[in-house]
Amino acid sequence: DRVLVLAGGMSPEHEVSVRSGRRVAESLRRLGVEAQTADIDADLLDRLAGDPPQVVFPVLHGASGEDGATAEILQLSGVPYVGAPPEACRSAFAKPAAKALVARQGVAVPRGVTLPKSAFHDLGAPALLQRVVDRLGLPLFVKPDQGGSAFGAAPVDSMEALSAAMVSCFAYGDRAMIEERIEGTEIAVGVLDLGEGPFDLPPVEIVPDGGVYDYAARYTPGRTEFFSPARLGGETARAAAEAALTAHRALGLRDYSRTDLIVDADGGVRFLEVNVAPGLTETSTFPLAVEAAELDFGRVCRDLAFNAWN
Ligand code: DAL
Ligand code: MG
Repeated sequence: DRVLVLAGGMSPEHEVSVRSGRRVAESLRRLGVEAQTADIDADLLDRLAGDPPQVVFPVLHGASGEDGATAEILQLSGVPYVGAPPEACRSAFAKPAAKALVARQGVAVPRGVTLPKSAFHDLGAPALLQRVVDRLGLPLFVKPDQGGSAFGAAPVDSMEALSAAMVSCFAYGDRAMIEERIEGTEIAVGVLDLGEGPFDLPPVEIVPDGGVYDYAARYTPGRTEFFSPARLGGETARAAAEAALTAHRALGLRDYSRTDLIVDADGGVRFLEVNVAPGLTETSTFPLAVEAAELDFGRVCRDLAFNAWN
């Protein structure tokens, strides 16, 4: 039983990944599974070739983890690994493309546009942003088209806030996704596959104390109240589960994923994004959903690892 948990990585979510990875490794060890953690570096392929573990459990968030680069290295190495194959990672990590794909399956999504940084040189920022607001109205939500943990993401209520949000967003990437902001409740729906096909976990409702689920609200214990399972009507809960399963399947994801959704005042569900490697920290929603399903987090990790090499 030797599992190599990969955590850390080269994205702004490094620290989050370290915390997720630590939790996975500790949970496995508690069950008597030999688990070690390592970061990804230039020696990874050599390490995998020289002294291969039985299975690799990547818990890498953001670029180099969720974008498929690590999955590609793992595939080359021939060592079995937990999680989505490279192509699936790539499609899920590019948020606008993932959103379009999921929308084509009939899942409702917020209206939005994706703008490259270069567009601002051609047209000038104020004119372009005015056109965006004319088309989508206010309020809006701005986020980089890749990445996670709310880095570079911000809710926007005015033209002035939009300019500022674009600047922060472009600090994390070259393309910005600007979406109409649906007023409502954010929920996260985990999907898990323990060998018999993907099934949905109970939805988790996210209520940040300041109203915005930013980095601090995500990772500071006590800053966000979670309702697990979420307080949803039956029809909304079914639509949420269906959206998460649709995203998981349509993108070709494997083993586990988490889809983030917004529930509007009428109980309508809209897809925001799907995460290939959802956070597994002490304050993350996926482990809460596992508990709400009356599953043991450690056993789930062990089963995912075991299934990958069998
Ligand atoms: N990107 C973070 C880790 C999450 O989605 O949970
Ligand atoms: Mg995310």
